[in-house]
Amino acid sequence: MPIQLRPIGSCIGAEVDGIDLSEPLSSAQAEEIHAAMDRYAVLVFHGQPLTNEQHLAFTSALGSLENTSGNNVRNAADLRLPPTFADVSNLDGNDKPFGREDRMRLFAIGNQLWHSDSSFKTVPAKYSLLRAVRIPSKGGNTEFAHMGAAYEALDDETTDLIEDLVCEHSQLFSRDTIGFREFTPEERERFKPVRQKLVRTLPRTGRKSVYLSSHAGTILGWPLPEARLLLRDLTEHATQREFVYSHKWQVDDLVIWDNRQTMHRGRAYPASEARDVRRTTLKGDAPTVEQAVTA
Ligand SMILES: [Fe+2]
Repeated sequence: MPIQLRPIGSCIGAEVDGIDLSEPLSSAQAEEIHAAMDRYAVLVFHGQPLTNEQHLAFTSALGSLENTSGNNVRNAADLRLPPTFADVSNLDGNDKPFGREDRMRLFAIGNQLWHSDSSFKTVPAKYSLLRAVRIPSKGGNTEFAHMGAAYEALDDETTDLIEDLVCEHSQLFSRDTIGFREFTPEERERFKPVRQKLVRTLPRTGRKSVYLSSHAGTILGWPLPEARLLLRDLTEHATQREFVYSHKWQVDDLVIWDNRQTMHRGRAYPASEARDVRRTTLKGDAPTVEQAVTA
């Protein structure tokens, strides 16, 4: 029986019924999901109480996993999940919310800036699959903006201007914009910038998108202030409400998004409340720009 799709926004997202993600995925179902992702970029599955192992098995049936170790500044003692997961929670190694001033929390809340996952890696992420285990009493939505629709709404002058531009992305850039600048020499080396095209083409559909992220901090060959202003203007354009879907989480939701076609951001929630959300990530196929592949 094919999956059922119910569109949830004017240009982004669909809710999916008719599938139990705890069961092994057939190749026909995997292809249905890829086709739905190409079309909607965000898929929402409600009522899927998965174990970590089932979450991983579902992810692996869709492609190759990204190893997310080294993406953050968590201390070894506060790693709650294996490196096949990105721990997007606010919880420490004892499952307690980090203190408000904790460095690991202050780094992590940079995810409240619009971004595309792992755009700071030479091979950036394809899909992210985020599952809600515990949610706070209020706040904590995830918002998604469709970069294909945003690209198509640009004028010709702008699409010509950006067609061949290449940006540098780094978590040093995104954190700098919120005043988080205390990095160790090891972190500065680990987070050194990588190059990404500003305009991407989705391989299976040929649809173009503007590849923005708060991690983007320079445009090659451009003066820095002019580059930052163009990136800011494009981000303002691309995150207008008409391109955005805001997901209000329920426990046991699993949401998949395509990082090649969307940006997203978490929204604030009370620091004292637990938000346990766990992400697996599919690796992209290749770098967007020829460069030495580092991770
Ligand atoms: Fe993210």
